[in-house]
Amino acid sequence: MSNTATTTADTTATTAGETDEQLKAEWREYAFEGEPKLAVEDLNVHYGDDHALDNVSLDIPKESVTALIGPSGCGKSTFLRCLNRMNDRVSSARIDGSVRLDGEEIYQDGVDLVELRKRVGMVFQSPNPFPKSIRENIAYGPKKHGDIQTGVLARLLGRADSDELDALVEQCLRDAALYDEVKDRLDDNALGLSGGQQQRLCLARCLSVGPEVILMDEPASALDPIATSKIEDLIADLAEEYTVVIVTHNMQQAARISDQTAVFLTGGKLVEYGDTDQVFENPQSTRVEEYITGKFG
Ligand SMILES: Nc1ncnc2c1ncn2[C@@H]1O[C@H](COP(=O)(O)OP(=O)(O)O)[C@@H](O)[C@H]1O
Ligand SMILES: [Mg+2]
Repeated sequence: MSNTATTTADTTATTAGETDEQLKAEWREYAFEGEPKLAVEDLNVHYGDDHALDNVSLDIPKESVTALIGPSGCGKSTFLRCLNRMNDRVSSARIDGSVRLDGEEIYQDGVDLVELRKRVGMVFQSPNPFPKSIRENIAYGPKKHGDIQTGVLARLLGRADSDELDALVEQCLRDAALYDEVKDRLDDNALGLSGGQQQRLCLARCLSVGPEVILMDEPASALDPIATSKIEDLIADLAEEYTVVIVTHNMQQAARISDQTAVFLTGGKLVEYGDTDQVFENPQSTRVEEYITGKFG
């Protein structure tokens, strides 16, 4: 049975010379065991008339690192921001489709966005600590959410004394591999830290509210190589406990740190998704191969 989409695609290549022939559904099918942590189905995002994400479907396994790669403007950040409804804040954005977190639709009425963003935290491209002390940067979220008062974190940490907050600050800084560098200056302003330290502080701040998923949008692109490698090491450790989804324009980085890789190309299309080794060593799509080998993009 032929359908209209196929017929049209055979005759109408896009400006990038891409046809549906080069976007086979099986290149995007990625089989893994267990239920997906995030299940994205038929996701479309428009900014006014600009179609930034074109019918993207993708299942993300839990406790692993998923890398999103592709040329600038192909919709990676847009996709990432859909996963915790950050695009809701963009007034020109129109979002259609489905995103389920542990099977539960996040695009439905009545979803508590504060709670959602606590479960699905985000670390941005440029480190953005609050102009407050290191300690306050980490204590901010748990205090705001009332976790300190209700003792949720105390229970998590297995203690309920007044050292609760200090223990939390220390734990988050340790998990972000920053504690040893800052333990003697927790009350200093966070803006006095180096870029790499600030980014790890932002990660510690993200961890402080107990997320399940961590979204990272080019978290190392503003950092020097040493700071970058610290962040990369951290990401591998985080994947033991968290579901990490990372956008990177650095293909070597994606190859080094991720378990699976999704390649987006011009027009907001997901072209290929699979095990990172397979995508880099044996891509199914010619355009992905060209992108990866640097012939395009
Ligand atoms: N807030 C916004 N308002 C309008 N257009 C946007 C906005 N954010 C992104 N876009 C457009 O959507 C497309 C995808 O952008 P983006 O998701 O930032 O891509 P990437 O992260 O892959 O570089 C681009 O054409 C970009 O100009
Ligand atoms: Mg981006």
